[in-house]
Amino acid sequence: MTPSCRIAPSILSADFAALAVAIDLVAPETDLLHVDVMDGHFVPNLTIGPPVVEAVNRHTAMTLDCHLMMTNPGDYLEAFRAAGADWVSVHVEVGDTAELVAGMRRLGLNAGVAINPETPFEAIEPWLGQVDHVLVMTVHPGFGGQKFMDEVLPKLRRIADAAPDHVVVEVDGGIDLRTIGLAAAAGATCFVAGSAVFASPDPASAVRRLRQLAVA
Ligand code: DX5
Ligand code: ZN
Repeated sequence: MTPSCRIAPSILSADFAALAVAIDLVAPETDLLHVDVMDGHFVPNLTIGPPVVEAVNRHTAMTLDCHLMMTNPGDYLEAFRAAGADWVSVHVEVGDTAELVAGMRRLGLNAGVAINPETPFEAIEPWLGQVDHVLVMTVHPGFGGQKFMDEVLPKLRRIADAAPDHVVVEVDGGIDLRTIGLAAAAGATCFVAGSAVFASPDPASAVRRLRQLAVA
């Protein structure tokens, strides 16, 4: 059984015109909220920036887990910190990882590195001892509601095995009632779920059900 497992609902799949309502539905079930920041360069989509994070932070005491899908995250770390981000992950694919991790540490953020499906284990290995969490993508980032890529599971297993015990291994993309068990079996302890939560008629029970399956 996984000792501690966290579900992080992704507001990307919520109704942006009613974010407060969506957050209130899941807040009784979990304390971690995933916020997908997309810049239209690193990924072909535009989503959320610091003003929305600031508004969400005013509304909820949940821990805000900001996934920066940006080519220049270093220019915005302070702005996200000021807006109320708690966890921040930057992609290894953008480079400057040492400087970015140092910047996150300086700001007192829970520091994370994210890795795309096709990026090899070796790209993240040097950072596993330097960060608080890793975010392993099991879809190509950019959109919610995509299919889980089973072929990432061996890399997830390697990352989970190599990461120090205190590092949270978070998985992101296509997590649902079928795939969460696969990700848990490969060593993930934290699970982002967008459409599986917010496209469900009952987001709170979706979070509960996902957690049950993650620890089964
Ligand atoms: C994709 C995002 C994910 C997304 C997951 O680029 O990083 O966090 O919200 O959505 P689902 O769970 O629907 O795949
Ligand atoms: Zn994400």
